[in-house]
Amino acid sequence: MPVLTSNLDPRGSAYQENRQAMLERLTELESALRQARGGGGEKYVARHHARGKLLPRERIELLVDRDSPFLELCPVAAWGTDYPVGASVVTGIGVVEGIPCVIVANDPTVRGGAVNPFSLKKTQRAGQIARENRLPLINLVESGGADLPQQAEIFIPGGAAFRDLTRLSAAAIPTVAVVFGNATAGGAYVPGMSDYTIFVRDRAKVFLAGPPLVKMATGETVDDETLGGAAMHATRSGLADFVAEDERDALRLARGCIRNFRNFGPGRTYGPEPKFGADDLLGIPSADLRVPFDPREILARILDGSEFDEFKPAYGAALCTGWGAIHGHRVGVLANVRGVLFSAEAQKAAQFIQLANSSGTPLVFLQNTTGYMVGSEYEQGGIIKHGALMINAVANSRVPHLTINIGASYGAGNYGMCGRAFEPRFLFTWPNAKSAVMGPQQLAGVLSIVARQAAEAKGQVYDEEQDRTMRFMVEHKVEQESAALFLSGRLYDDGVIDPRDTRTVLGMCLALVGTGETAQFGVFRH
Ligand code: COA
Repeated sequence: MPVLTSNLDPRGSAYQENRQAMLERLTELESALRQARGGGGEKYVARHHARGKLLPRERIELLVDRDSPFLELCPVAAWGTDYPVGASVVTGIGVVEGIPCVIVANDPTVRGGAVNPFSLKKTQRAGQIARENRLPLINLVESGGADLPQQAEIFIPGGAAFRDLTRLSAAAIPTVAVVFGNATAGGAYVPGMSDYTIFVRDRAKVFLAGPPLVKMATGETVDDETLGGAAMHATRSGLADFVAEDERDALRLARGCIRNFRNFGPGRTYGPEPKFGADDLLGIPSADLRVPFDPREILARILDGSEFDEFKPAYGAALCTGWGAIHGHRVGVLANVRGVLFSAEAQKAAQFIQLANSSGTPLVFLQNTTGYMVGSEYEQGGIIKHGALMINAVANSRVPHLTINIGASYGAGNYGMCGRAFEPRFLFTWPNAKSAVMGPQQLAGVLSIVARQAAEAKGQVYDEEQDRTMRFMVEHKVEQESAALFLSGRLYDDGVIDPRDTRTVLGMCLALVGTGETAQFGVFRH
């Protein structure tokens, strides 16, 4: 297979400036991640430890195989909102007994582990990943249930969490609940809906209503253990399959449950390292997204042996398509070369996606697009029709898609290049990347033109001073809302990653996704 070469000059000033800007974004990311890892803050963490309990990340570490990687998902959920960064729950994919599993761990140090709207979205996304990739789901439960002041936002949609849990079970995807503490009301249905349950002695408290509510409702006076302790559920109600002596014992028992799911193990594959170092990835994209860069420079640093068999290189050259492999998994790649997509690029993409479907090859989308070309020449040439063709191919493709936003993702280009709404199995973002309906200046400019025309139609004098203020404010707002951290906070991706980790992250995901189904009909030549 042809091997990519590189024209990068790591000593040049452009590279150095780009690298500096990327490192600044990475510092911001690290600060957000620190907030998430800090849970509810020192006071609540110390209190939790003083009770002899482990933090969610400590529980995960003891659950997964020693020295195995843990791919944390949506770690900065709720960033930039009124809710704590991380959304009181840790989710990710870890290897347990050699089997990749989705792990969901409540963080009891954050408002008692109570579930807010972002916790709900994050947990649901983890469940979706378990379903689509057929991965066992392990819930590490300790939660005060619904965040009560926010109940209006979560009570009704929250039912989906229980629906999805039992649907996993119906699809023969194993589910395990390990209960470390409180699981009241809705929380009680997590073990209730799981295939296997493990309760920690003298710690697990699983009931529809705690003692105070029972007293109010029925007048009965009862203690926690009698109402919902591990021993009671193991001997009387039958809700607990196993009683653990302590937290470590519970995690050992959970590993024992997973050991029975032998047929869930992935096939291991290996591939040669790229010929160029991953460190260079920091300096390839400019902080100014208008400065184009060649995605082949990226591919040379993430594909096995830097080998890339480009498809139709001379046609629709603003989109690079071709075949390669990552950690031994064969992939098709679609990567924007110069931001804009024209008709030829859209048609080439559709043909390439069909080819991948005919061979059951997963697709990797490297997004760096400002959208489809506008203007009368292109409208007359059928740009809507051709964009729709590409979007149709992406939407109906049956092979797994993985998307990385490495720069711009604007307008319908976000859709054609498999944005979040097109349900790629995983979507990660580089810290420099931005996404919005259009760029801030363009959006403010469009609003200004519309307002000016409205004023003219009414025969009014347009207020230029007010226009300048409006443009400034809109540009500032859209700029903020386009940033990677803002979008990740709203769960529009599965996490912001260090560009240097791209090959590792893609390799881990490819080990999980399988090949999907092959196409039902032949490839259309466009
Ligand atoms: N919604 C909103 N806030 C909650 C909450 C909930 N469901 N559960 C706990 N919190 C808050 C507490 O008010 C407290 O806030 P503060 O520190 O600012 O005062 C903080 O989380 C920690 O709670 P605390 O009770 O001190 O922690 P704990 O570890 O001793 O006990 C629980 C944790 C979950 C056992 C206990 O808080 C509790 O019983 N909560 C209510 C559970 C419930 O009935 N839920 C109904 C769900 S439908």
